[in-house]
Amino acid sequence: MKALIASGGRGTRLRPLTHTQNKHLIPIANKPILHYAIEAAVDAGIKQIGIVCNADSREVQDAIGNGKRWGVRITYIPQKAPLGLAHVVKIAEKFIGKDDFIFYLGDNMLVGGVKQYIEQFRQSGCNCFLTLAKVRDPERFGVPEIKRGRIVRVEEKPKKPKSDFAVAGIYIYDRHIFEAVRKIKPSSRGELEISDAHQYLIDKGYQVGFAEITGWWKDTGKPTDLLEANRLVLDNIQPRIEGSVDRSSVVAGKVVIEEGAKVINSVIRGPAIIGKNCIIENSYVGPFSSVGNNSAIRNAEVEYSIILRDCRIHNVRIRIEGSILGNDVEIVDATGKPMVHRFMIGDQSRVEIA
Ligand code: DAU
Repeated sequence: MKALIASGGRGTRLRPLTHTQNKHLIPIANKPILHYAIEAAVDAGIKQIGIVCNADSREVQDAIGNGKRWGVRITYIPQKAPLGLAHVVKIAEKFIGKDDFIFYLGDNMLVGGVKQYIEQFRQSGCNCFLTLAKVRDPERFGVPEIKRGRIVRVEEKPKKPKSDFAVAGIYIYDRHIFEAVRKIKPSSRGELEISDAHQYLIDKGYQVGFAEITGWWKDTGKPTDLLEANRLVLDNIQPRIEGSVDRSSVVAGKVVIEEGAKVINSVIRGPAIIGKNCIIENSYVGPFSSVGNNSAIRNAEVEYSIILRDCRIHNVRIRIEGSILGNDVEIVDATGKPMVHRFMIGDQSRVEIA
């Protein structure tokens, strides 16, 4: 069994963060999203992982490396343009060879790993095994139609979904998927759709099995998904204090304070993670917050937010909540007269002020 992980695409729904970095490298609980997919494959005992990445950038290769730190071999497969998930599979045929493989969308997050699904795939003797998750908005996903315990149709982003399940971005295949991705044609949006490949397999009489994901699963396509994924990961974090906390500070609940971080006269209420060399002074960091390395929060309050590295939040009177700050962002008090809000904000940013 090999693993194939998709990390290409443009991440347009996560702009402006994705103007300067690949969406799969955005941290959730201070760890790049892509690490979670790699670790799921590693936990399932997989030793060879292929990562499909944008051909015009080395960002993912540079950040992830050759897999040595996880004891696996990572092969990079460049994709010249985001031509669809079935295209991702198509260009990986040489890497996969005749092996079975798990195809994991690098922006998906799943608790509990993938071992159990690989087991079920093996026991069922299926050609293709899909994981399904109940969702409130199936029209955003590939949606199965299930009759008498079998998937009879899969539709990509249907206007009228035939079930309240999403096909999650964790699929297991044998070599027949390559026949499917060769035969299907691009959809009206110009992509080779993975749902069409699944439909091809169903129509040709191949065995398509499925399992429902019972724990949590998240597609981190939108900013609110990132905050939710961050909340869910932090909820299971192991507390650890390696930085310093002074006597006038209070640290409560599951909190990670990494090496070199200083908490001074502040309250940190977990679950939360404070990265290396951060300074939290005269401040409050509330539940479900991740603060990236080298950031400083002084005289401010932050809750349910993702703050990336090297940020400065100083003297902000109203609590910052439900927010995502990119790398090296400053939110500071305006000095001098007149009393103004002063912005220096990149393309496609969003600010809400009270
Ligand atoms: O998350 C599950 C959903 O993922 C499924 O329910 C849908 O059937 C499936 O089509 C897919 O839908 P999305 O709209 O979420 O796909 P997206 O374009 O966001 O791409 C998913 C991942 O694959 C993301 O990590 C980017 C990467 N990707 C995408 C394309 C189109 C590539 O690496 N190359 C590509 O060509």
